[in-house]
Amino acid sequence: MLLIRSPDFFAFDTRPIYQYAAFAGVVLTLFVMCTGTLKQSILVLATLFAMFKSYDEVGRPVPVLQCSAQGRPCNIVITGANSGIGLAIAKELSTQGHRIIMACRSEQKCLKAVKDVVPLGTCQPGTVDLSSLTSIQHWVKKVHSLEHQKIDYFFANAGFTPSDNSTKFGIESGLGTMHFGHFHMLQLLQQQDLLAPQASIIYVASDALRLGAFHQSLLDTASGLGDLSGEITVGCPPRSGSVAPFCLPPTIVEKYDMRTAPYLSWLNFGSYPRAKLANLLMAREIPKRWRPLKSSSVMPGMVHTNMATRSAPSLKGLPHYLQEKFMALLLRSTRASATVVLMAAKNVDDGSYVNGQGQQVPDNQLPIQAVDQQVQEKLWDITEKFLANVDQ
Ligand SMILES: NC(=O)c1ccc[n+]([C@@H]2O[C@H](COP(=O)([O-])OP(=O)(O)OC[C@H]3O[C@@H](n4cnc5c(N)ncnc54)[C@H](OP(=O)(O)O)[C@@H]3O)[C@@H](O)[C@H]2O)c1
Repeated sequence: MLLIRSPDFFAFDTRPIYQYAAFAGVVLTLFVMCTGTLKQSILVLATLFAMFKSYDEVGRPVPVLQCSAQGRPCNIVITGANSGIGLAIAKELSTQGHRIIMACRSEQKCLKAVKDVVPLGTCQPGTVDLSSLTSIQHWVKKVHSLEHQKIDYFFANAGFTPSDNSTKFGIESGLGTMHFGHFHMLQLLQQQDLLAPQASIIYVASDALRLGAFHQSLLDTASGLGDLSGEITVGCPPRSGSVAPFCLPPTIVEKYDMRTAPYLSWLNFGSYPRAKLANLLMAREIPKRWRPLKSSSVMPGMVHTNMATRSAPSLKGLPHYLQEKFMALLLRSTRASATVVLMAAKNVDDGSYVNGQGQQVPDNQLPIQAVDQQVQEKLWDITEKFLANVDQ
């Protein structure tokens, strides 16, 4: 867990004071571990951990979004705004005085979020399920009839760990919802002139995209279809011809039921990284196709949300309580993750990917599948074509 967590914790920003502090901390720890007792080593490690955690929580100033020199409040859409990272972004932006259009699939959860923490949020366009194209179309129609002001920021945040089923329109659930769903929503908002001319689109992606890939059929078939309905990526894909999403050895796949074995089901997440890779690729392609719109994608960190806790084995009683506390301690808070997402929004540009520290990742540090122009363009084209012809 620490290993997974470490990129967020230790990849400090470039301010010299933090660089020196981190270096001094590492030297001190090594020194105590070599010369001191076990108790002293634990004490130093615990102190360092507390320092890193405090930095992660409050060390970064929360960026303030502005939509005009006169300080006009921004109009902001956030998908999945009723919980986790989306709710934390909504809360922060509401505090800054912006108007938030909450795109949620549950009316009850949306109203509760607005009542409890997002006073400047509205659930008025009604609910939207991103796995249903009809639902998205209804929602955009309602936004059209309600809105007189254009949308300045769009946070494509809604997401989940996919299961092995498909959306109603026949695309594998993760890609269908997180990529096709968001794309369709944006496409309709764009076509109906609901986005401000310089609107910013921020995809809440994930470093899991480093394990994601598209099957060769995306490029080899005219329609691009082949793997997108989940027949290869969900479950362990055959290696031949595949550009290998994350995959476990066949011996393990055969031995366990991947959907129910604790953790294994989560590890077999070829479709999740692929959906997040699609988010990054769209963030890179939007500024080219829909100029002058800007777009970025961002890794929010490993965050203590429903999505993260649902992936853990379901314990009961005291073990459950301890597990919860342990996860809350190790994982990033939603507030800290919202800060990083807002850093990406503040510096949004022509498609950059922003890491868990809020820093832009240069192309040469991204995996090859994330900078593949051919895949990026083909994915856009087939998504557009598919949505134009799909039988709902
Ligand atoms: N947590 C992490 O460690 C982590 C790490 C990297 C990236 N992310 C990304 O961060 C984003 C937010 O996730 P989170 O961690 O905040 O999880 P979360 O608390 O479970 O929030 C996910 C939100 O997405 C909504 N949603 C899911 N499926 C939807 C659908 N079909 N239509 C409309 N809304 C839908 C959920 O609605 P309901 O409440 O109705 O279910 C919920 O509001 C996701 O894109 C996730 O991939 C999270």
